[in-house]
Amino acid sequence: MAPIDGVDNEIKSSALDLIGNTPIVALDRLYTGPGRILAKCEFMNPGASIKCRSSLCMIKKALDSGELKPGAPVVEVTSGNQGCGLAVVCAVLGHPLTLTMSKGNSAQRAIHMEALGAKCVTVPQVEGTYGNVTLADVKAVEEVGLKIIEETGAYYVNQFNNDANAISHYETTGPEIWRQTGQRVDAFVATVGTAGTFTGTARYLKEKNPEIKTFVVEPSGSEPIKGDAITKPLHLLQGSGYGCVPNLFKFEYLDEPISVTDEEAVEYMKLIGSKEGLYVGYTSGANVAAAVKILKSGKLPKDAWVVTLLNDTGLKYTPVPEELIK
Ligand SMILES: Cc1ncc(COP(=O)(O)O)c(C=O)c1O
Repeated sequence: MAPIDGVDNEIKSSALDLIGNTPIVALDRLYTGPGRILAKCEFMNPGASIKCRSSLCMIKKALDSGELKPGAPVVEVTSGNQGCGLAVVCAVLGHPLTLTMSKGNSAQRAIHMEALGAKCVTVPQVEGTYGNVTLADVKAVEEVGLKIIEETGAYYVNQFNNDANAISHYETTGPEIWRQTGQRVDAFVATVGTAGTFTGTARYLKEKNPEIKTFVVEPSGSEPIKGDAITKPLHLLQGSGYGCVPNLFKFEYLDEPISVTDEEAVEYMKLIGSKEGLYVGYTSGANVAAAVKILKSGKLPKDAWVVTLLNDTGLKYTPVPEELIK
């Protein structure tokens, strides 16, 4: 939209302009040092999660390449946040969107997608329970999604195998962290679902400064990147930790994996709320728990700045069942 006499200079032309450029906040009350944890507020994206970034990039690149025609239908298999991000993008650009999601994923995400005009097909779980989604559950969701694509010929986003997923973080998340920290970042920590976030951001930061240390967070007992056998496929870190090394993950950008238990993720999720006034989800708690472990381990200089992500809002999760946090 063209500015009129400088009056509407700050008017965004659509929700797409609300994606990315999230603020970075110092968690100085939760962790008082030595060193500092800096967290990107990804819950402030219009779809309330980090996955808006990859949603926009994957759809734009598919339109640019001609793989996706203007107004054509789109299908994706999702744990919910990718679906909400795609729902934002497809609503603005006018693409009918169908999402398949496990019944084990947060129901609030399905409500959000449908509120944005998308159709959400929920698939019964194979082995997990509500709030705990396993690789077998994801495979079942994928099967349903692929069937819909076969029947309709819709464009398949395919976040687990779409390079534009990681590129979105190489083009936005990495440069924002570099700029917002005044190029003073010692370490980067992220959970891994598709690995788009980790691979794109870590690649950018390592290219800027190979001395930056990069860490992935894996749920305790489900640590394929570390190379361990899966002993606990059920965990609370919805959207991450699927028990396999995703195709987008690149070991060349990794320094070390860190393991976080459900209890630690919940403890830090609560601390982010009570000390910092930010209500975030489980993987955000896991990221911050890992950042504290790294700072306390002595692996980094004493005054190190560790950057991580508050991946999504806590508003889309139901309370944790007692038996999982005892
Ligand atoms: C809450 C949450 N955290 C972390 C991730 C992991 O992000 P990525 O798929 O980029 O690895 C996801 C992905 O869906 C997510 O929903």
